[in-house]
Amino acid sequence: MDRAVTQTEVDISELGTLVSKTDLTGTIVEVNDAFVEASGDSREELLGQPHSIIRHPDVSKAVFKDLWQTIRAGKPWVQVVKNRTKEGQHYWVEANVIPRVQDGKIIGFLSVIKPIDEARKRQAEQFYKEVLQGRIIVRNGFKITPLQHMYLFNEIHPFNLMLTMIALLGVGATLIQAGMVEFLFPGSQRSVRCFLFMPGQAKNMLISVLVKPKR
Ligand SMILES: Cc1cc2nc3c(=O)[nH]c(=O)nc-3n(C[C@H](O)[C@H](O)[C@H](O)COP(=O)(O)O)c2cc1C
Repeated sequence: MDRAVTQTEVDISELGTLVSKTDLTGTIVEVNDAFVEASGDSREELLGQPHSIIRHPDVSKAVFKDLWQTIRAGKPWVQVVKNRTKEGQHYWVEANVIPRVQDGKIIGFLSVIKPIDEARKRQAEQFYKEVLQGRIIVRNGFKITPLQHMYLFNEIHPFNLMLTMIALLGVGATLIQAGMVEFLFPGSQRSVRCFLFMPGQAKNMLISVLVKPKR
């Protein structure tokens, strides 16, 4: 829901902590007085509405996609967001969103929202510009670069593991073919061949001598 914006900021620093509760779909079911006052809507206007009623268009939708992925996975999400008031002004806050769990099941979500200082607002403005330009990506509320997003450096993705193994096999085969293994470890080829063609019992004996059995 995108309503008009004025790009004028309202000061909510005196209001304290804003709290909102939603159901599983993000529909607002409860808000505290500070939340009502900051939004400019009445409590009746807010209850039953999607939480996007206070969304400011300067905040990329990708950020909220990350929010939903994180909280639906049962994890907490913390991020600075710019919210819009009924009159189209805005206020910057740090939103802490957590799943509400009952009998081991997620039954909805809770947001605890705090005002932030000027330095964090400037940081967040720059952050959202870069998100909109696609220069950074948000994952679980943390910023990462598109390169890290490809899982190359921060996670072992099965595809990368497979590529690494193929590359290692290739290097190994090339070294053996080029006689490098024999050059570096003289006699190794003969020992391996000897071991491979050794009778089964002798092989077992050798293994039991070389490898200490686990207790
Ligand atoms: C508990 C909770 C708190 C939320 N708080 C905000 C908020 O402060 N500002 C906001 O724009 N979206 C908030 N959202 C996300 C909205 O539900 C919505 O995903 C977002 O505004 C983007 O709108 P869209 O889903 O229609 O694209 C919150 C969601 C939940 C579950």
